[in-house]
Amino acid sequence: MGPDDHVCVCHRVSLRKLQAFLRREQPTVPSKLSECLGAGTGCGWCRQHLHRLWEQSQAGETPSITDDPDQYLAKREQEKRTKNSEPLALANQSQYDLEMAALAPPPPTRIPLSQLRTGERARVDCSSLSDLPEGERCLLQAMGMGDRCELKRCSGHGCIIQIDRTRIAVGSTLADRVFVERLNDRTAHP
Ligand code: FES
Repeated sequence: MGPDDHVCVCHRVSLRKLQAFLRREQPTVPSKLSECLGAGTGCGWCRQHLHRLWEQSQAGETPSITDDPDQYLAKREQEKRTKNSEPLALANQSQYDLEMAALAPPPPTRIPLSQLRTGERARVDCSSLSDLPEGERCLLQAMGMGDRCELKRCSGHGCIIQIDRTRIAVGSTLADRVFVERLNDRTAHP
């Protein structure tokens, strides 16, 4: 499976995103992977693979899946048809399921800025800003993006966002590393 293939088919979470999440967040339990764009919180089939990726990461290995993408999808289809995809198939799955159950129900709203859709509003996650190199953090702050500030994704090419009345363009690699929490209209400021 290549880095851009989806490990979680339901939520279209790629291997690359999961590798980056594992590297960045270093989760202490596998269920934390659900915070990576909701991985594992759909049909649940991919949890066995998420668990394996987490184990590899814990062992200092590069998280990977050896199946080719077609094989992977075919397995999912087949296991779903034969009902063998129950997460309980894994020996340590009970604990994992408990952890997942505790974390999974509310769909995660913390997403990279680049994933915000046009017109959506969000609040900046301060922890992601503090992870940035000082130069980038200062640049964003100078443009008005402070901790917990609210913004809106504007239409157009690239990642154009609006903070208060100011529109700024954020480069795509930077927009992948700044995390935001989606807001619904009731909680966003006008
Ligand atoms: S494939 Fe991941 S939850 Fe369905």
